[in-house]
Amino acid sequence: MRTQVGIVGAGPAGLMLSHLLHLNGIESVIVEERSRAYCESRVRAGLIEQWARDLIVKVGLGERLQREGLLHQGIKLNFGTGLHAIDFVGLVGRAVTIYGQQELVKDMMARRLEADGGRIVFEAEQVSVHDLDGERPKIRFRQEGRPDEIECDFIGGCDGFHGVCRPSIPDGVLTLHEREYPFAWAGILTESPPPDEQLIYCSHQRGFALFSMRSPNVGRFYVQCGRDESEEDWPDERMWEELHARLNGARPLMQGKVLQKLVAPLRSFAVEPMQFGRLFLAGDSAHIVPPTGAKGMNLAIADVLVLSRAIAEFYKTRRTEQLVTYSQTCLRRMWKAQRFSWWMTQMLHRFPDESSFDRRRREAEMDYVTSSHAASMTLAENYTGLPMDI
Ligand code: DHB
Repeated sequence: MRTQVGIVGAGPAGLMLSHLLHLNGIESVIVEERSRAYCESRVRAGLIEQWARDLIVKVGLGERLQREGLLHQGIKLNFGTGLHAIDFVGLVGRAVTIYGQQELVKDMMARRLEADGGRIVFEAEQVSVHDLDGERPKIRFRQEGRPDEIECDFIGGCDGFHGVCRPSIPDGVLTLHEREYPFAWAGILTESPPPDEQLIYCSHQRGFALFSMRSPNVGRFYVQCGRDESEEDWPDERMWEELHARLNGARPLMQGKVLQKLVAPLRSFAVEPMQFGRLFLAGDSAHIVPPTGAKGMNLAIADVLVLSRAIAEFYKTRRTEQLVTYSQTCLRRMWKAQRFSWWMTQMLHRFPDESSFDRRRREAEMDYVTSSHAASMTLAENYTGLPMDI
């Protein structure tokens, strides 16, 4: 098989890249190890920055998002002295949208496959990438036992943190940056309304908690837990007990049926550069941020917007400037999102070994953020997303 751009991974990055290329008249094929049903049900964060929402709408993918997405004008912070509102719209004139990642994946999948006749190979086995530093890179895989190959001009490595693309880059090319946190998040999806119409971020002596939602009747709640804990350590009663304790009476909390549960460790990770030859890494294959502030999917969308423009420029003019600067352009934005995600994480979580100095410093930081206009504005500017020129 031959195509212009071969894409590994049908998550938000791969699907958006394929769609943006299509709008520029560029053909692509996506190779995905999982089934369509699996991709469409993979529950992740669901917070979309203002510019990313505008992009999704502009490129014709926002019909359901505009109907069902919840526009959030701000957030609330709670660290034991009641709720402090941060009004994003008042501070920076931008908002965020709550819309589950898997809903966006469903919308993009339907558009690519049903409306635009795009090609996605699902349940591909033994996916590998080859000849990355030549002009004809290849994706090889097996489907139903038969070997197959896609020859292309470029490969989009959109296959996530555990994917095959990043490890296929020869040793010595990438510089890795990593930070692990001494805690994880236990999260639930629940058939009960969130305690407030806005998200509440809580910092409590028992640890961090976040009250988010997927709809006015479905809550998405998280608590900080031990790094080595698993779902079995978090029976529903323990989860509700911690959620009540950490919300600390700021709002009544209704309990409902737990629809889904997960435990995920927190990590900051990035590689530089995000490119080797004709392989371009995008999204989680190149960087992971801790979930506080929900920047992951937004970064993935930013990467593929930059990449689609660079590839479009190449086919139109044969110029490679934007391809050459792809990594640099993305990393500049990515490091600011890393900084912000780390900053929110360290401010709101209780570190197991923290000294009284560290605790008092965190408390002062929360006090500053909620009492200073300049500090609130900094939070709002970063949370709603540094603007892209879309
Ligand atoms: C959600 C997750 C986050 O990490 C966050 O900061 C905000 C919202 C969510 O899943 O809704």
